[in-house]
Parts: sequence; C-alpha cells; structure tokens
Amino acid sequence: MSYRLGTEASGLPLIAAKGLSIKVADGSTTEVAIVVSDGTVLPQKSAFSDEQMKQAELKKADMSSVRKRNGMKVVFRGLTYTVAHNSKRKQKLQLLKTVTGVIAPAQMTALMGPSGSGKSTLLDVLAGRKTAGELTGTVLVGGKPPSRKFMRRYTGYVEQFDTLVDNLTVQEMLAYTAEMKLEMGVGMAEKRARVEALLRQLALEPCRNVRIGGSMQRGISGALLRPPAACPAQQEADRNAKRCNIGIALLSDPRLIFLDEPTSGLDSYTSHEVMEMVMALTRTNNSITVCATIHSPSPQTFGLFDKLIILLSGRIVYFGNNGVDAIDYFERRFPELDRMPTSGANANCAEWLLSVTTQADRSGRADEYADAYQESALFQENISLLSQGRGTESRISITTIQELAVKQGTVTPLWWGLWILVKYRLVSNYRDPKFLLGRIVDKLLCCVVLIILYAGRGKDASPDNLINISSLLYMYTVLPGFAAISYMPGLVLERPLYIRERSDGLYSTITYLLSKMVEEMLVVLFVSLTVSACIFFSVGFHGQYVLFWLVYLVTISIGMVVGYVVAAWAVDLDVANGILPGYIMGLYFFTGYALRLQNLPRWIGWFHYLDFLHYAWASLMLNEFEGRPATFIGNQTFLEYYGLPQHGITKWEYLGIEFLFFIMFFILAWVALKYKKHGNR
Ligand SMILES: Nc1ncnc2c1ncn2[C@@H]1O[C@H](COP(=O)(O)OP(=O)(O)OP(=O)(O)O)[C@@H](O)[C@H]1O
Ligand SMILES: [Mg+2]
Repeated sequence: MSYRLGTEASGLPLIAAKGLSIKVADGSTTEVAIVVSDGTVLPQKSAFSDEQMKQAELKKADMSSVRKRNGMKVVFRGLTYTVAHNSKRKQKLQLLKTVTGVIAPAQMTALMGPSGSGKSTLLDVLAGRKTAGELTGTVLVGGKPPSRKFMRRYTGYVEQFDTLVDNLTVQEMLAYTAEMKLEMGVGMAEKRARVEALLRQLALEPCRNVRIGGSMQRGISGALLRPPAACPAQQEADRNAKRCNIGIALLSDPRLIFLDEPTSGLDSYTSHEVMEMVMALTRTNNSITVCATIHSPSPQTFGLFDKLIILLSGRIVYFGNNGVDAIDYFERRFPELDRMPTSGANANCAEWLLSVTTQADRSGRADEYADAYQESALFQENISLLSQGRGTESRISITTIQELAVKQGTVTPLWWGLWILVKYRLVSNYRDPKFLLGRIVDKLLCCVVLIILYAGRGKDASPDNLINISSLLYMYTVLPGFAAISYMPGLVLERPLYIRERSDGLYSTITYLLSKMVEEMLVVLFVSLTVSACIFFSVGFHGQYVLFWLVYLVTISIGMVVGYVVAAWAVDLDVANGILPGYIMGLYFFTGYALRLQNLPRWIGWFHYLDFLHYAWASLMLNEFEGRPATFIGNQTFLEYYGLPQHGITKWEYLGIEFLFFIMFFILAWVALKYKKHGNR
C-alpha cells in the first residue's frame, strides 16, 4: 500500500512515523495527523507520547476482540435501478444507470456527489436493502450473488438517521442487539465483553447508563451529560447517537459495513473522530469492507478514505484513488476547470471535487462527465480490477461458502428473539409511566362512569330496566373498540426502527408481532380483569362472570390487532387515524343494538355477520338474559325482541366466532407488517 503525502488542510492522505517532521510544497513545516502502521490515526497533531502509543495499542486490542471475520470484495456491474415516480403517476425514474465498480476489503471507499445523485440508492442496492423498484445488473459478494438473508446477517448498515430504542440506555441498546444478533453458542460472558469493548472503543463509557431518549425525551441528547466546552450539547448528542449506531452495526462482527452519511450533522472534529474509528476497522488484522456516503467532509476526514466514487445523476463520473489522483483526473480530463488551489483556505480537496461536479450537474453536463469517465483509461483499469481475483473466488473458505448459503435471515430462533424483546423492550416500556398510563387510564375512567351510572341496576328485572341493562352491555362492548386507536401510534412511530432491525436480521416479523402482543396483553389482562370485575359485581349481573370477562378480553385484543393492521398498512399516523375510527364507528351500527337485526336494510344487513362487535354483544346478551322468564313486548322475550339468538347459536359459540376474528386480524397484521413496503425502500 502506498501513500501520497499531503498537508492536513488539503485532505490528501498523510503518513508519518514517530518523530518524523514533514515539509510541504511551500517549504514550511506543518502539523500533521499521525498515521501509525496499522492505520490508526491518533487525534493528537504533533509528537507521540508514550501514553498515546499505549492508547493506540489499547484501541487496536479492543478492535481485534470485536472483529473476527474478514471483509469481502463487493463487485457490482451494470447496475440500473428504476422506481415508479412517487408524485408523477406512470412515470419511471432511473436512479442508477449502468453503475459498475468494486469495493475492496481493507479499504475505505467514499461515495460522493451532489444531493439527489443516487448515493443512498447505490448504498442500499449494494447492501441489499432495496425492496421496491426494479434492479438490473449484478452484485457479487465474495464472488457470489449474496442472498438477502446473508446480507441481513453479515453486513452492518449505519443509516443516515438514528434508529435506536428511546427507552433503553446506551449499554442496554448494545447488549440488546448483541443478545439478538450473536449466535446462541456465544456465551453471555463473551457477549458482555464485546459490548464493553465497543463502549470503550466508541468512547461511549461516560454515557453508558444514559437513556437514548427521543425528540420528546431527554437522554443521550446531552441533558445528562456534561459535554466538553468546545462541543455544544446537540453535537455531543449526535455524536453519541451516531457512535451507538456504528456500535450496533459492528456488534455482529460484520464482513461488510455500509454507512449512509455517518458524518452529517456532526462537527468536523467529531466526524473525523467517528471516521477514524471506522478506519481502524479496515486496517486491523481482520480487515472489513467499508463503504460510506459523505457530504462535505472536512479535509482531515476526507483524507481517511482510500477510494472515491463520485456519482452524478445516477452515473459514475469518477471511481479511483482518493486525493491527488482524483484531482489529477479532473484537471487533466477537463482542462477548462480552474485548478485546485494548493494552499490557503480553499485548498480543500473534497470541496473542490464536489463543487466541480455539482457545477457540471447543474449545467447539464452530468452525462458528458460520465461518458468521459467511461472512455478513460481509468475506467479500463477499473474493469480489469473487477475480474481480478476471480480465480481465487473458488478458493474461498468453507465458512464463507456456508455464510453465503445461509438459509435463516435471523441469527437466533424465534423464542430467543421473543425473550430478548420482552427482556429489554417490554421492561423498558413498562418503566415509562406514559406507556402504562396511556393504556390504563381511559379504561378505568370509563369503568368509573359506568359504575356511577349503573351500580345495582342489574337486580331490577322490570321491562323498563331491561333497556338500561342492554345499553350498558352495548357500551361495555363498544368502548374497547375505541382503545384500538391507542395501539396504532407505537407501531407507526416505531416503523423506521422495525425496518432497520428487520433488515439487520435481529428478528422476524412474527417475533416482532408476538412481542408486541405480549407487551400489550400483560397490561390488557390486568385491565380487563379489574374493569370487568368492578362492573360485573357492582351492577349485579346474572350471567357467568368468566364469559363477561372473556368477551371484554377478546374484544380489546381484536381492537389491538385491528390497530396493528391499519398501522402497518397506513402511510403515516394521519392516514391511520382517518381509517380506523371510521371502520370502528361503522361496526357500532351493525351490532344489533343501535338498529335491531331484523330492521337492518336487506342489501347491507348481511354486514353484521362481519362485525365482531355483534358477536361480542350477542354473547353478553345471552349470558345475561337467557333463561329469564320475563316477557318484554307482547309474547316476546327480551332476547327475541332483538332477534337473538340467531341460528340457535349459544353464548359460548358467539364468543368462539368472535375469537376467530382475532385470529383473522392477527394474520392480516402479520401479512401487512411483512409485505407492506413503506418509504423509498
Ligand atoms: N420514488 C421516487 N420518486 C421520485 N423521486 C425519487 C424516488 N425515489 C428517490 N427519488 C429521488 O431520487 C434521488 C436519488 O435519491 P438518493 O437518496 O439516492 O440521493 P442521495 O444522493 O443520497 O441524496 P442526498 O445527498 O440528499 O441524501 C433523490 O432526489 C430522491 O428524492
Ligand atoms: Mg442520501
């Protein structure tokens, strides 16, 4: 490997050994970042002290305890990616156009280009994270087309926006991911050791017990930390969150790591620090394959990258060595360009490249630049690079072959995933009073109102009172329907996290859905037992309490899964809030109480068969009034007046039919969560 020397300000790669002073072009000496032989860049700008050397060794030791697998070569040929335009109907948009290149292990590859040039799209395609759109061309990892399952298990992806669990602490977040993503054979002690090594390596120890927090909640958002004076709280927060995301990507010991704008939102010092840490991964014994999109990096950060891909309007205009080679290429190929200043404030390699290519894009010369690249000797060199090592691909290790042929998208089995979700996510949610209050208070308040209004009325068997009792049974049936709305926000707001964790192979859809159900059902069990017992015994109902409780439990559970179905299908919370109340309100009219079954218009009356609230109310009515001798109107009993029971169905059968709705909506929720794609992916 060879390095060109450059000044720190220019962003060109630097190398120096202990005690070496460097003279730059203008004859002056300059302070440089120091690159030790393993590629670890020390933050100090001048001489090494013994302490610094010790720190560098510690970092290296930590990293080798985390890293065990080698990186793999990623080759992509003729990638063309097309999506349907999201606003212009029937129009197709080509986001990538015959993109060809290679990302090698032990190197840092930067993806640069103006906004909208297709950087994230290319990264997503390479990482196998595109679920929508049409992709042609090939991506080979280690010489073989990787399965989605392989990519889930053996690649790390750091998304542009942080996707972390708000209620967990930094240490818990890493431990949770470690327990989910490391093989069952890895003992707890090793999992803990890896988490500890990463906390040290990522300098996250000061905030290990601080909650991640969210937009409405303080956490590593700096409130509990005392950030360095030079570093404002928000930057400290972004830095910690970004490091935490990188830690998550590294935990599973990936072979490839993709980072989408890991430096955006960070100050230049922090960007450098974060990327230095990533670079250390590419240089340690088990070199990893790193590809990152970057936006306006500082010269120091830019200098850490070995290779550079520049995209314009979905086409590559440069793919080669970073630094002077890139500048040489553009200056030679396009002599009309102003040359890059070699000193002064404007001597910034990244900025010069970005401004040159952005100007070309804006002036409609993107294709001209892309064509020039395809006609260049550099392109031919790159094409020969693609086929290099082809012969050796058949000699890849057995482990690699097994990894590439992996059948399971998740590392751990369903039951383990469920247990870990309960252990971390459920417990952390239950720690949050807002979570519990939002699920309990509304039901308890309704219960209090019903008790105040109806206490003791169950004992009065007079025909006048029968209507009151059936009204109460109706309210008791339909109120849990409203509760369905409270189950939607969690799922919709958590969607980016769910998508990221699914793509990372942490768990399967069924595991996630079951964990959500367990989380809610524990609360529902407590609430339903309390509410139903208070109402049943204070009112003085006659039927069986167990049925009275089970109907409430099943109805509230159906509301929950209906909420999940809508939340999984709806584009956002506004749409979900529009659909669900409309559906639930519609059901209220077909229970058989608001309008008697025999009075429903014929053409739509059949709909009551599809109304789970009808079965719930009918079961409760039979439970209360069956066998009561009192007549209501004429010779009709109260039940006959409401056309009950239909087809001789018993109260338990009504409950059974209602339960079938639960199963149906549960399956629909699973299908929606698994197959409904949202966003640009
Ligand atoms: N379905 C779609 N309909 C319309 N435009 C789309 C669609 N999908 C993506 N785009 C646009 O295509 C462009 C390429 O997207 P991409 O996210 O890859 O760009 P990028 O280079 O990463 O940009 P940035 O630097 O802003 O992150 C963007 O302008 C994006 O808005
Ligand atoms: Mg992007």
